[in-house]
Amino acid sequence: MALRYAKRFDGVTGSAIRDIFKLLKNPEIISFAGGNPANSALEADVISQLAQEVLAQNGVQLLQYGQTEGYAPLRESAAEFFRHNGVEVRPDELLPVTGSQQALDLICKALLDPGDAMLVESPTFLGALQTFKLYQADLHPVETDEDGVIPESLEEQIRAHHPKLVYLIPTFQNPTGRTLSLERRKAVAKLLERYEDVVIIEDDPYRDLRYAGQALPAIKAFDTTGRVLYCNSFSKIISPGLRVAAVACTEPTLLRKLVIGKQSTDVHSPNLNQAIVDAYLRKGILMDHIEKISKSYGQQMGKMQQMLATFPESVRYTKPDGGIFLWVELPESVNATTLLSAATEMGVAYIPGTHFYCEPDTHHNTMRLNFSNASLDNIEKGMNKLKALFEKNGL
Ligand SMILES: Cc1ncc(COP(=O)(O)O)c(C=O)c1O
Repeated sequence: MALRYAKRFDGVTGSAIRDIFKLLKNPEIISFAGGNPANSALEADVISQLAQEVLAQNGVQLLQYGQTEGYAPLRESAAEFFRHNGVEVRPDELLPVTGSQQALDLICKALLDPGDAMLVESPTFLGALQTFKLYQADLHPVETDEDGVIPESLEEQIRAHHPKLVYLIPTFQNPTGRTLSLERRKAVAKLLERYEDVVIIEDDPYRDLRYAGQALPAIKAFDTTGRVLYCNSFSKIISPGLRVAAVACTEPTLLRKLVIGKQSTDVHSPNLNQAIVDAYLRKGILMDHIEKISKSYGQQMGKMQQMLATFPESVRYTKPDGGIFLWVELPESVNATTLLSAATEMGVAYIPGTHFYCEPDTHHNTMRLNFSNASLDNIEKGMNKLKALFEKNGL
């Protein structure tokens, strides 16, 4: 039977990460491919205790249907959490969502018609690219350097394409680990004052995973227009399986559209999970937990960089102050996409960098490495395998 699939799926493939996970059934393979927190960072005992407490206090309400606008106590505690990033929002300006991936989906649902122009950093998070493609966005890349997106290039692309949306990950970016400088954060927020129908999505799930240097205020902290939508997630700092994140939107009509869009997506995010995260925040234990995991992640990142320093000089890599990824650029002659199967045969995996670009089939000499979900020992072993692979292929 020839099923007539929606056009929105044209050219959209499954997530490269999820497909690579299928390759990784063999537990012997050391994976630098995912974007998972360390298993040791997931505190089943703490979550179990909080779940029991919130169910004992408020079980019937939590097990009943809830409000699309979110679990009211979480809106308060998450607004407080956002404040420490310089994002001054009221609880009623904040929408809890089922992972920040859902925020991206709802923002596109509210704003994009097929063919609408949208700008993304080059490279950018592949899960976001998948969402934008499903909404049939006309995607255009914006140039980046060591300090993140280049405001002049951003303005040039805004003038050239008149985009409805701009998607930025300013802190410890996925996939590069790079951070947008303070001056550029201000410049990007200022741009919105000149382009009055452009909306910026500021996706900031890594900002608290900092191992060196000083925290920077969010772009949203400099927004005078209400057109920066600030997303933060508890996936990387508490648990991705709980699927709890929130989006701050200070433009009431747009927020209402997000809520209406969410009604038809999942009615509301699970009450129990929202209440668990709320209890976690209210107990004041998040900062200690972040400090603990940051200590190990910092060591893991250091180990991976130490190993990369032993690679040939032509292998270039980022040196971030936090996050969970390093970005590697190989000489043009090396194809990281085709090398992946040889790598998995040798027992190591990564994500070929091509998947992070909106222009298909480009940048095959790049790759993303994740260090948060690999032990120091496995980082050493896996990186030695990668080095051997590169040497075998003429590096
Ligand atoms: C930049 C970025 N945004 C959003 C997400 C999705 O996170 P969540 O688990 O909150 O949906 C990720 C996950 O890797 C990410 O890296």
